[in-house]
Amino acid sequence: MSHSSEPRPMTARRSGPLTGVATVPGDKSISHRALILGALSVGETRITGLLEGQDVLDTAKAMAAFGAKVERLGDGEWSVHGVGVGGFSEPEGVIDCGNSGTGVRLIMGAVATTPITATFTGDASLSRRPMARVTDPLAQFGAQITAREGGRLPITIQGAADPLPVRYRTPVASAQIKSAILLAGLNVPGETVVIESEPTRDHSERMLAGFGADIRTETTDEGHVITLQGRPELRAQPVAVPRDPSSAAFPVAAALIVPGSEIRVPGVSRNPTRDGLYVTLLDMGADIAFENEREEGGEPVADLVVRHGPLQGVTVPAERAASMIDEFPILSVIAAFAEGTTVMNGVAELRVKESDRIDAMARGLEANGVRVEETKDSLTVHGMGRVPGGGTAVTHLDHRIAMSFLVLGLATVAPVSIDDGDPIATSFPGFLPLMQGLGADLG
Ligand code: S3P
Repeated sequence: MSHSSEPRPMTARRSGPLTGVATVPGDKSISHRALILGALSVGETRITGLLEGQDVLDTAKAMAAFGAKVERLGDGEWSVHGVGVGGFSEPEGVIDCGNSGTGVRLIMGAVATTPITATFTGDASLSRRPMARVTDPLAQFGAQITAREGGRLPITIQGAADPLPVRYRTPVASAQIKSAILLAGLNVPGETVVIESEPTRDHSERMLAGFGADIRTETTDEGHVITLQGRPELRAQPVAVPRDPSSAAFPVAAALIVPGSEIRVPGVSRNPTRDGLYVTLLDMGADIAFENEREEGGEPVADLVVRHGPLQGVTVPAERAASMIDEFPILSVIAAFAEGTTVMNGVAELRVKESDRIDAMARGLEANGVRVEETKDSLTVHGMGRVPGGGTAVTHLDHRIAMSFLVLGLATVAPVSIDDGDPIATSFPGFLPLMQGLGADLG
């Protein structure tokens, strides 16, 4: 990301009703996976609707560094000529994954069982994030891994020449850990098994099956068990990336809190492993209709119609956290405008995202006159009719914190500022013009 450039402060002001169509970009998780599986397949994978955010562009660059032919054909339209499972060649330079935890963790998985050496790095935010959660299971395959103190980036992986299959129970609910192990398992003889206590986003499983891998998921006494048969020949596939429900959450939230708003958000993924925010908003009494429910690119999608209206505070159960893990920052903004208190439980993982999101939201909301409480793994927001605003939030290189506070400022009494809007381009490059097009006063 342009983390080395000057910070770009931004401000959002109380806005009139938001109206119109918010066409959000392609899903970030699916975009990373489409590039990586395309690179591990035989033949040409054509991708449409790819998110062209910096995180995904860094993954595209990495796939080219490992030998795939990656080309941009047009807006969101990409072609990947893959090298096949086990076909990665040793990259000449360091692999810089920028701000992206998904990028670095999945690619480390894809490399761990191929006998090449690669070094991974990232920006200041990514270099603080825990990587042992991925390198520990990858070492069980036989990879040799050297990390900086505390298991942090930069990390060098020497992939296993004779990898062994692994059976691994993930210690925290994380699709990134699961996916890294499955990608490593591709180049291993025999069955690789991942067991998770709570189901996490299943895009890797869906896409691996779509590319011809033998993969099955069962719910047993042990939990959610995913079994992958190693050494498949992945066949290149067209991938139509659905629109990102995590990005859609920002215009949706804005429409819910700005009086008189009504917007339409077309073609958003409704994958049940991603829809916790929408379940929660309906619990809060939000006026959201899901129209034209259909399937696109192997994922359920719908057109959302969202209208402003009264909202009630709720308690979000810990079991729902995995299905809305990236949406807690924006939920805490919406909660500030609800009647009563919203309690978000089981959210400890937020502390190791692009920033400590519990801390970043708590401090930023307090700076804008909202009463909050936090524990190690919960955040409580006390709703109020009129949210004062007038504060500046520190975004810590975190795109979702930046967008959340800009949305807050659209409905507060006084404007809300952020110290740096630059990171927004990691996941939602057209955020400002899209919001301005709905009538939002921000920039
Ligand atoms: C992602 C998984 C989640 C999420 C991230 C994307 C993925 O992280 O926060 O933005 O694409 O697999 P964890 O799996 O670490 O919870």
